[in-house]
Amino acid sequence: MTITDVRKRYLDFFAKRGHVIIPSAPILPENDPTTLFTSSGMQPLVPYLLGQPHPEGSRLANSQMSFRAGDIEEVGDNRHTTFFEMLGNWSLGDYFKQEQLPWIYEFLTQELKLPKNRIWVTCFAGDDSLGLPKDTDSAEIWKKIGVPEDRILFYDAKKNWWSRSGTPDKMPTGEPGGPDSEVFFDFQTQHDTTFGETCHPNCDCGRFLEIGNSVFMEYLKKSDGSFSKLPKRNVDFGGGLERLTAATRDNPDVFLIDAFDSARKAIEQRSGKLYNEEKATRSFRIILDHSRAATFMLASGIRPSNTEQGYVLRRLIRRSILEVDRLGIKSAILAEVAKNYTEVYSNQYPFILKTSDVIRLELEKEEMQFRKTLAHGLRELEKMGNNIDVFTLFTTYGFPVELTKEIAMERGITLDITALTTKMEEHQALSRAGAVQKFAGGLADHSEQTVRYHTTHHILLKALQMVLGPEVHQRGSNITSERLRIDFSYGQKMTPEQKADVEKIVNEKIAQEFPVTRTIMSKEEAEKLGAEHEFGANYPDQVSVYAVGPKDSTETNPKFSEAFSIEFCGGPHVSNTRELGEGGKHFKILKEEATAAGIRRIKAVLE
Ligand code: SER
Repeated sequence: MTITDVRKRYLDFFAKRGHVIIPSAPILPENDPTTLFTSSGMQPLVPYLLGQPHPEGSRLANSQMSFRAGDIEEVGDNRHTTFFEMLGNWSLGDYFKQEQLPWIYEFLTQELKLPKNRIWVTCFAGDDSLGLPKDTDSAEIWKKIGVPEDRILFYDAKKNWWSRSGTPDKMPTGEPGGPDSEVFFDFQTQHDTTFGETCHPNCDCGRFLEIGNSVFMEYLKKSDGSFSKLPKRNVDFGGGLERLTAATRDNPDVFLIDAFDSARKAIEQRSGKLYNEEKATRSFRIILDHSRAATFMLASGIRPSNTEQGYVLRRLIRRSILEVDRLGIKSAILAEVAKNYTEVYSNQYPFILKTSDVIRLELEKEEMQFRKTLAHGLRELEKMGNNIDVFTLFTTYGFPVELTKEIAMERGITLDITALTTKMEEHQALSRAGAVQKFAGGLADHSEQTVRYHTTHHILLKALQMVLGPEVHQRGSNITSERLRIDFSYGQKMTPEQKADVEKIVNEKIAQEFPVTRTIMSKEEAEKLGAEHEFGANYPDQVSVYAVGPKDSTETNPKFSEAFSIEFCGGPHVSNTRELGEGGKHFKILKEEATAAGIRRIKAVLE
């Protein structure tokens, strides 16, 4: 089958069973500053899994564009990709295991016609120390629908528990998760004993491929480390479209499915090498995966840069070019490879075809620049003679460490790898710290003006609650030195009077010269104070809380009961609201608009 067949059969199957087919969310998450990319179908649905009613009902399904940056280094084997489509179906407090497992089995064996004797399943073995029971219910259901007992296996939380942050111990307070039941396809290939004595579904030798995962999301992590039940039991199923398609072809190599055909042929033609030549396969796979991911990212508006999503995109492009080089292709090719993807995906994702010119131009530009960087770095490397400084080559000239290592090896030069590792770790820790800071508050930078807007943002949220009602909560924020942006839950367009009222309150608070204080306290204490926090966000046990006002409040004696606004927040903020009005500035709403069902967005400035 083709990916189009499999996708259609899946969505039709679940539509027939009462599911509303929702569109794929963008790969660039909206209103979620905690993550760079959408990496699973459930991610945009977290608020609904936590209990908020979804406007489309309690049975949903889709095919979600997903990207997992954590898998970049894994790409090269027959099954890992960074970008993939995840077929997903959800029950939001509707059906549970009894419906889900038989449906998935029916879909796999009757719609996709996978032979029953090639299907293995796994269930959660339970964890006594956390009070999480063994999932015998799922095992019983599998048995009843005909999966033989010796193909139903139990694994611990490392394998059969799912949450966005992994195993139960890694989950932050407030995070939902649950036991899962995975389905594996047995390609019946020879076991490779370097992966262990005996083969089993979770063995990495390549015989088994995980093709679907039903998560029974019914738990919530509590601040004391234990679990409580969510208000409703949910099902979160995810299955990789590429892997499911590979199973229908009874070939474990996902790069041989139709989606990659034309791109693979283009690389074969330009390199004069075949995909299945032993030395070429890995390079082919990296180029095929990375250029497809880059195509989707560019189409989604991401541009190569040195920060965040743009950095990941740049890394994908550069890694592809190194492999292109390895295949002996010496001139630009990525735009040509990408063109094949814009055609393959034009029906399902028309926005890709619409942006094909931009994709081509950006790829050509980036490839040309990187080839220049490589040439420049190579000249610098030559100047260094036998004392190759890998770190400087990388940090100053952008010359890839991998490549330096290869060249050194070819020339028989030994590199000081220990020193390099230490330096690289320091370098990475610094960049990571930068990224974490930035996402902590949805702040673009920590310039004075951005900080002013951040404090204004707190005052604005409170003013919105006063004017529109206490049920208004923040759903996202983005603050730069130019303006602030807040997304909040509210169902209607604001009237001109409401906007004027909000502006008036904010300007009053600026004029009242309220001190802004920061206090560290336990999450529980902060919740008791009614401190505002972003829905679905994860907070540690100790949190930092910012309060605006009252007039005589101080860091040592913050008078919370009289405060105008109290919020969970990492800061930074101004120390007095007077700073927001410096230079005679006033708060002004520039725009108020809808961004999603029940979510409004305000852009505002101090001018
Ligand atoms: N969230 C689960 C996964 O990503 C199932 O959709 O595997």
